[in-house]
Amino acid sequence: MSFVTSVIDWQRERGRHDLPWQNSRDPYRVWLSEIMLQQTQVATVIPYYLRFLSRFPTLASLADASQEEVMPYWAGLGYYARARNLHRCAQTVARDWQGRFPEKAADIASLPGIGPSTANAIAAFCYNARQPILDGNVKRVFCRYYGVDGDPQKKATEQRLWDLAWQHLEDAPAQVDMGAYTQGLMDLGATVCTRSKPACETCPLADGCVARREGRQFQLPTPRAR
Ligand code: ADE
Repeated sequence: MSFVTSVIDWQRERGRHDLPWQNSRDPYRVWLSEIMLQQTQVATVIPYYLRFLSRFPTLASLADASQEEVMPYWAGLGYYARARNLHRCAQTVARDWQGRFPEKAADIASLPGIGPSTANAIAAFCYNARQPILDGNVKRVFCRYYGVDGDPQKKATEQRLWDLAWQHLEDAPAQVDMGAYTQGLMDLGATVCTRSKPACETCPLADGCVARREGRQFQLPTPRAR
């Protein structure tokens, strides 16, 4: 079975299905959730996400608000540049995209506060785009699965991981549920292939995993040099 198919089958059986942003393909909601989830755990994000949406239910309502109106809805989440960029992004979409969130990952990635992995996640969830993600959790999964040495924050290592991420999609079946695959990779990294307690016994990728075969799951990813 291909890497992608293993992840999707696992996601359907064991992944998370009840998160409030999962039943929406509205790019506004998906984008908001992804930004909140960048440096913050799911359990913390949920009440913020719901409160934010009840005050700013649409992209237009966020774009029309002032930054002073927005900040209280972020207070406590930290990394406040995220909230400032969120507001700037809503205004950019309102002004430059006639209020409609762009659909192409490259266009999404051109917006304030949205990096390539988040752009690809939004495109995958909302438009089934065949584009890989590579956030911190997913880097860990790939470093272990392929036995990649080197600090994943370093450019060369990161490029190698992007190449591997694209390779999976080239090797995958013609039709892929990109939402399930993307969510599955995130869920695997968050719940199975965790940093300090990888649960290899329950991992759908254990058979092909280099780190597991070599007993290096606790050594990889290579810690940041300091
Ligand atoms: N972390 C980043 N994106 C996420 C998502 N869509 N679901 C759960 N955790 C995430």
